[in-house]
Amino acid sequence: KGKRAFIAGVADDNGYGWAIAKSLAAAGAEILVGTWVPALNIFESSLRRGKFDESRMLPDGSLMEITKVYPLDAVFDTLDDVPEEVKSNKRYAGSSNWTVQEAAEAVKSDFGSIDILVHSLANGPEVTKPLLETSRKGYLAAISASSYSYVSLLKHFLPIINPGGSSLSLTYIASERIIPGYGGGMSSAKAALESDTRVLAFEAGRKKRIRVNTISAGPLRSRAAKAIGFIDMMIDYSLVNAPLQKELSAEEVGNTAAFLASPLASAITGSVIYVDNGLNTMGVGV
Ligand code: NAI
Repeated sequence: KGKRAFIAGVADDNGYGWAIAKSLAAAGAEILVGTWVPALNIFESSLRRGKFDESRMLPDGSLMEITKVYPLDAVFDTLDDVPEEVKSNKRYAGSSNWTVQEAAEAVKSDFGSIDILVHSLANGPEVTKPLLETSRKGYLAAISASSYSYVSLLKHFLPIINPGGSSLSLTYIASERIIPGYGGGMSSAKAALESDTRVLAFEAGRKKRIRVNTISAGPLRSRAAKAIGFIDMMIDYSLVNAPLQKELSAEEVGNTAAFLASPLASAITGSVIYVDNGLNTMGVGV
């Protein structure tokens, strides 16, 4: 029987979430996505108008089908957490059931269960500021959107992930090595995400035999990465310094996600898997 995946953090065809969706679809999974509420209208209308048709193409020539797009804002767990100004914001008022708890309930009532949960989202409002200039509010916002959002997603989806299922997130080497420019507490948020990957692997493993891993991905020119402002430099740096001197494609990360979600990875859990052309292994630049 085919597996069903819920991928949180897909709002265009440029990011890792999209590539993961494609690799999972190519391996036969049914695809559900969670899209950030403010980006929902444009994503759905672009899908409908065929703007993504070229990038929906799978290796066998068929087009990836997204069975359903769910609105999601992963910084809110339940409706009680949503402040009035967000509730009445017109980009939010047009959709409903987009807190993490409500999204999990909606998936449950539509499909009953899933096998694969993917977290491919991050947000740090002060990412362009050095850590020494980051406010408490900005730091906590980065942790909320980029780290706790994963704890919350797994917590709320766990009851509907079939035993033996797999969950994964995306992280970045800035959690463990200094990457000047990756500020605003985003380096801290990725460190928390990686530590949580281990603890959640233990808890979800013992509870339901669910595996929890994170992919430490190399630089990709996604919408989120362009907002940080140094992505071209990081891509060039990798081309010069990594053991493999080629540009990283999102598909390479997608294929690793498909492997991790498959029975081929049945003993891998609690791990940080590097998909970065080997850049993380270098001790000095060359
Ligand atoms: P992206 O822009 O395709 O994905 C980020 C997504 O997060 C967007 O769709 C955005 O709408 C969504 N999002 C932001 N706040 C949200 C919220 N509160 N609720 C729900 N969704 C929200 O960019 P990218 O780069 O593919 O990011 C995916 C993951 O990959 C992130 O965790 C990122 O940190 C990670 N990553 C990216 C690298 C890169 O160079 N692009 C390198 C290593 C890791």
